[in-house]
Amino acid sequence: MHDFSGKIALITGAGKKTGIGFGIAKRLARDGAHVIISDVCRDIGVKDYAKIGCWEDLEALSKEIGGSAVRIDVTDNESIQQAASFIKEKFSHLDFLVNNAGAGPSPNLLQYMELDIWEKTMNINLNGTLLVTRAMLPLMTRPGAAIVNTASRAGKRPRAFGGAYCVSKAAVIMLTKVFAIEAGMNGIRVNAICPGQIDTDLERWSFELQAKAFQKDVQQIIEEEEKTIPLKRLGTPEDVADIVAFLLSDDARYITGQAVNVDGGQLMEI
Ligand SMILES: NC(=O)c1ccc[n+]([C@@H]2O[C@H](COP(=O)([O-])OP(=O)(O)OC[C@H]3O[C@@H](n4cnc5c(N)ncnc54)[C@H](O)[C@@H]3O)[C@@H](O)[C@H]2O)c1
Repeated sequence: MHDFSGKIALITGAGKKTGIGFGIAKRLARDGAHVIISDVCRDIGVKDYAKIGCWEDLEALSKEIGGSAVRIDVTDNESIQQAASFIKEKFSHLDFLVNNAGAGPSPNLLQYMELDIWEKTMNINLNGTLLVTRAMLPLMTRPGAAIVNTASRAGKRPRAFGGAYCVSKAAVIMLTKVFAIEAGMNGIRVNAICPGQIDTDLERWSFELQAKAFQKDVQQIIEEEEKTIPLKRLGTPEDVADIVAFLLSDDARYITGQAVNVDGGQLMEI
C-alpha cells in the first residue's frame, strides 16, 4: 500500500471496467488518491474490439471508486484543454498523470496499411500522449508529481501486422525519456510501462484475429501464448496497476525515464 491521500490523479482511457486504465484507477483510489477517470465516450471507429463506454458508464465507474469523471478524447486538443480547465478549477493542481488511452486499429502489413489507419494509430497512442502531457504539466506544481505512460512490449519487439502499433509505442518510450529530461528540471518524474499480454478486450481481440487466421479456437491460442510466457499465464490489469502505483509513489523517487516491462518475463533485456 502507498499513502496517496490528498493526491489528485488523472488517467486517460480508463472508462472500461475490464481495462488496464480502470485497474490502475481502482489501485490508486484504494491507496487514497482522488482519481479522475477519463475516456473518449464516443465511437472512435475501432469497432472491431472496442466497446467504448458512454458518459453515463464513465460517471458510474468514477462513483464506484469515489472519484471524478471527465471526457477526454486524446486526439482532440479542445477536449484536453477543457479537462485541464476543469481540473484547475476543481482541484487547482494535479499530482499524477497516467497516459493510458491506446488502440491498435485494423492491423495490416506496413506495405498495404492505409495511411488513415497509420495516422489514427499515431494520433491516439503517440500524439495523444504528447497533447495530454503538455496540457497537464503546468498543473503539476507540487513536489512528488509523476507521470506514467502506457507503452507496450510491442514498442520494444517488432511484429508483422502490428507495425503502426509497434512504431507508435516505441515512440511513446522515447517521448517518455525526453519528457523525463525536460520535466525532470522541475522535479517531475516520467516513466513508461511496457505491458506484455494482459487479459483485456484489446488482447482478446488480437487472440480472436489469430484464432480466425489459424482456424483454431481462442482458448487454444491463449494456451499456446501462455506457454511462451516464463510465468505461464496472461497478465491482469491488477499486475500492471501495482507497478504503476509503485512508479508514481515516493518509493520510486530516484527512477525516471525508464520503460518497465510488466510481462511475466517475456522480454528479458540486459
Ligand atoms: N492488453 C494488453 O495486453 C496491452 C499490452 C500492452 C499495452 N497495452 C496498452 O494498455 C493501454 C490500455 O489498453 P487495454 O488493454 O486496457 O485496452 P482497452 O481497449 O480496454 O483500453 C483502451 C482504452 O483507451 C480508450 N481510448 C481509445 N481511443 C481513445 C481516445 N481517442 N481518447 C481517449 N481514450 C481512448 C478506449 O476507450 C479504452 O477505454 C493501451 O494504451 C494499450 O495499448 C495493452
